[in-house]
Amino acid sequence: MFVPLALAAAAAALVAACPDGHDHEHDAREPHVHRRAFPSAPLTPPSRPLQWGDVNIIHTTDSHGWLLGHQKASFPEPNYSADFGDFASFVTHMKAIAEEKDVDLLLVDSGDLHDGTGLSDGFPPGGVDAHDVSPSVFARHAGAMGPRADVASPSHELYIYNNTLDMYKNFAPKFHGRYLSSNVNITVLDKHGNNVSVPVGSRFARFETTKGRKVTALGVLFDFTGNDAGTTVQPVADMVKEAWFAEAIQEEPDFFLLVGHMPVARDNWPLVFNAIRAVHSTTPILILGGHSHVRDCLQLDGRSMSLESGRYMETVGWLSANLEHAGRTRNITFSRRYLDPNRVTFEYHTRRSNATFDTASGKAITKGLNNLAQQFDLSLTYGTAPQDYTLSRDPYPSNGSLLSLFADQVMPVGLAVNNTRAASGIPAFFFINSGSFRFDIYAGAFTKNDQLTASPFTDSFLFLPNVTLDAANAVVAALNGGSTASRRELEEEDVLYSRGDVSKRYNEWLRAMYEAEPLAKRAAANLTLGYVTEDACPGVGDDTLHTALPFFSTPAYVASPAPAGVASNAAVLDFVFDDYIVSDVVRILNSVQSATTYTASEAALYSETLLDEVLGVFAQAEWK
Ligand SMILES: *[C@@H]1O[C@H](CO)[C@@H](O)[C@H](O)[C@H]1NC(C)=O
Ligand SMILES: *[C@@H]1O[C@H](CO)[C@@H](O)[C@H](O)[C@H]1NC(C)=O
Ligand SMILES: *[C@@H]1O[C@H](CO)[C@@H](O)[C@H](O)[C@H]1NC(C)=O
Ligand SMILES: *[C@@H]1O[C@H](CO)[C@@H](O)[C@H](O)[C@H]1NC(C)=O
Ligand SMILES: *[C@@H]1O[C@H](CO)[C@@H](O)[C@H](O)[C@H]1NC(C)=O
Ligand SMILES: *[C@@H]1O[C@H](CO)[C@@H](O)[C@H](O)[C@H]1NC(C)=O
Ligand SMILES: *[C@@H]1O[C@H](CO)[C@@H](O)[C@H](O)[C@H]1NC(C)=O
Ligand SMILES: *[C@@H]1O[C@H](CO)[C@@H](O)[C@H](O)[C@H]1NC(C)=O
Ligand SMILES: *[C@@H]1O[C@H](CO)[C@@H](O)[C@H](O)[C@H]1NC(C)=O
Ligand SMILES: *[C@@H]1O[C@H](CO)[C@@H](O)[C@H](O)[C@H]1NC(C)=O
Ligand SMILES: [Zn+2]
Ligand SMILES: [Zn+2]
Repeated sequence: MFVPLALAAAAAALVAACPDGHDHEHDAREPHVHRRAFPSAPLTPPSRPLQWGDVNIIHTTDSHGWLLGHQKASFPEPNYSADFGDFASFVTHMKAIAEEKDVDLLLVDSGDLHDGTGLSDGFPPGGVDAHDVSPSVFARHAGAMGPRADVASPSHELYIYNNTLDMYKNFAPKFHGRYLSSNVNITVLDKHGNNVSVPVGSRFARFETTKGRKVTALGVLFDFTGNDAGTTVQPVADMVKEAWFAEAIQEEPDFFLLVGHMPVARDNWPLVFNAIRAVHSTTPILILGGHSHVRDCLQLDGRSMSLESGRYMETVGWLSANLEHAGRTRNITFSRRYLDPNRVTFEYHTRRSNATFDTASGKAITKGLNNLAQQFDLSLTYGTAPQDYTLSRDPYPSNGSLLSLFADQVMPVGLAVNNTRAASGIPAFFFINSGSFRFDIYAGAFTKNDQLTASPFTDSFLFLPNVTLDAANAVVAALNGGSTASRRELEEEDVLYSRGDVSKRYNEWLRAMYEAEPLAKRAAANLTLGYVTEDACPGVGDDTLHTALPFFSTPAYVASPAPAGVASNAAVLDFVFDDYIVSDVVRILNSVQSATTYTASEAALYSETLLDEVLGVFAQAEWK
């Protein structure tokens, strides 16, 4: 095992109540390269203390590997600068406060632990056993490193069978029955060598809280269709008709805890909720959702609340409920809050100072994470980004747009290195899907971690020779919607959503918050950039008040400037694109011109450099 001891030891201390078998081998190395997670700028404290109830929940979801926090100096990044060690200290103090108040505090995670940073995706090639190089190994360590969630739900990390197998064999067992996968199965060989389909974790859990409240918990995944062979996602509508489901919810607990990788709005929670309400008309139901990366809250009735807590450790969710006071029929008083995870926020809510905040285990986790980052060489620096480049805060085209940077400079420069066509002198036309990017690039050091964070995809660049500029432009225009956009786009949107792509919903959310804010307010208030959440729950949800991040729509596909001096109808260009869309490109190319019939098999490798490497190659050339 390559996980540093500091992590394992810290985890053992943190989850002492929860015996498990992590690895206890020794690693004497000291981390020395990484900057500590102290905010790089002065931060304003939250607006007001949290409202506690008799049942309280700290919620995380879609953390996607951001365990070292957001460490860039450009705003709003410092708002999210807490690392997982800080979070662990926060949880420890909050548990102590809960004990003082004689109330329950649960820690819940709704999935998507990995895929998003170098820490989760930057495993070094070689040097580690091949079977250890998997995102789910990271997820397992993420679980072991941080404060163990009291209840966790499956992600849609079922794209690769082996990862699911690893979750089943190594990750889920550490939760002692509280890693819940009510509708997700894996097919494994039983001891007689026969294939059997079994739940990845537990279908449900019944347990008692610290204060003796009876809980029935379920863990639900949205109707995901992008799963690998050997894994099964049962539609939520079918799950609620299962005999085991009826049996699981039969006995009345003090509250139902529905945890899931499923957005609280515009998805299938009502199916689960209604199935329970049909049996228990007033039992409190707490729903903790995720997956669409937004902050959201709604109430399906007066004795239930549904909370979703953002993404990328940019949000820690808080839900409290006063169950006792409401008796068996009155509306329950709930509260919810979206915390910006940084030390100022955490210190404020735990009534600690910079000097008294850190716990020994929190510090050990930070140290261990930095060790891991060092092992993965994540601070390897390719160059220095001269400014911020954003995905949606700057218009396209503009010099602050990451898409402009990539189309105008990164592809032409980065793909010229190790180029299979270098000797030919043939001009090229490049274009790229905007969905190829996951995160902004911020001014300052541009590291291996930043490269993997901005674009983690290992796609190749292919080319078709002898394409005209007219045809190339027509392909990009067609992919961007052309004249027949609407209906087909809508159908595709459903397909993309069912395969796990939530960028459309997330962007809609950003746009709505930006457009809702009067310009005058933006200018007048001294508020700082961040999320401005409007949800359907009473009162203000954001813990620190912000002014909305600017939002600009971008085209789905962007192209590099046309090479100089090429006649628009001369078939002389290398038409370069991402291998992910080769079949679409060939089909459309053959529909926009008829002089040549292109085939997918003619598309050849344009460069050895992959999508998740090209920014680094560019930075080495231009950002030294
Ligand atoms: C959030 O970021 C802003 C800058 O946009 C900063 O001024 C503010 O103090 C930060 N607030 C918190 C709680 O981190
Ligand atoms: C899955 O893991 C097994 C055992 O570790 C390995 O033999 C197999 O090649 C892996 N399959 C894939 C597709 O990675
Ligand atoms: C089990 O299922 C796998 C994958 O579907 C298949 O390759 C294998 O042959 C099956 N094994 C048995 C014993 O049926
Ligand atoms: C999931 O596993 C259980 C237990 O083996 C089995 O009864 C059930 O049919 C499986 N569900 C699906 C949808 O495959
Ligand atoms: C209870 O909550 C429901 C749903 O939020 C609301 O429609 C209803 O008016 C509330 N009843 C009382 C008495 O407040
Ligand atoms: C917090 O303490 C650390 C060292 O313990 C120090 O480096 C840092 O500057 C302090 N931060 C603030 C805001 O005082
Ligand atoms: C980006 O554009 C702005 C506005 O046009 C200009 O002020 C700025 O100097 C440009 N920055 C760079 C690096 O070109
Ligand atoms: C180009 O390819 C060679 C051989 O594969 C490799 O050693 C070198 O690092 C590559 N250069 C760049 C800039 O990627
Ligand atoms: C592309 O055009 C060149 C010159 O016109 C020609 O020699 C070559 O065979 C063409 N390639 C293909 C694949 O059609
Ligand atoms: C904004 O800050 C200025 C000076 O820092 C202060 O005079 C003004 O009252 C503040 N405005 C608001 C709305 O807080
Ligand atoms: Zn996610
Ligand atoms: Zn997801």
